[in-house]
Amino acid sequence: MATIIVQPSGTQIHVEPGDTLLAGLQKAGYAYTVGCRRGGCGICKVDVVDGEFSYNRPVADTVITDEERGDGTCLSCRAVAECDLVIEMRDASLRLVNPLLGTINAARCDRERSAGTPPEEQ
Ligand code: FES
Repeated sequence: MATIIVQPSGTQIHVEPGDTLLAGLQKAGYAYTVGCRRGGCGICKVDVVDGEFSYNRPVADTVITDEERGDGTCLSCRAVAECDLVIEMRDASLRLVNPLLGTINAARCDRERSAGTPPEEQ
């Protein structure tokens, strides 16, 4: 599992192994501006400021250019965290839409922090 810190708010999200960033954010009770959810439109782009990610399926060069692949641009509906990430949203649309899931997510993040072990070892 990985922890994602979402800037500029500093919100922490617990992401299960294999979940895309979009899936992780949704399971934590958050919503933001997305489109096709299948890697075809590019609306869900976020910037990865720190950490590594990979794509769970091929992403077309028409959606992510070579330049974007090198500058941290990330299709959140297809990207899977390889470690803890810091991402930056491109707009202010991130909002908590399910407070119960948000509370569960916060408890998981607190448990990981208090355990003092890197999330990838848990
Ligand atoms: S929502 Fe369309 S590419 Fe991610």
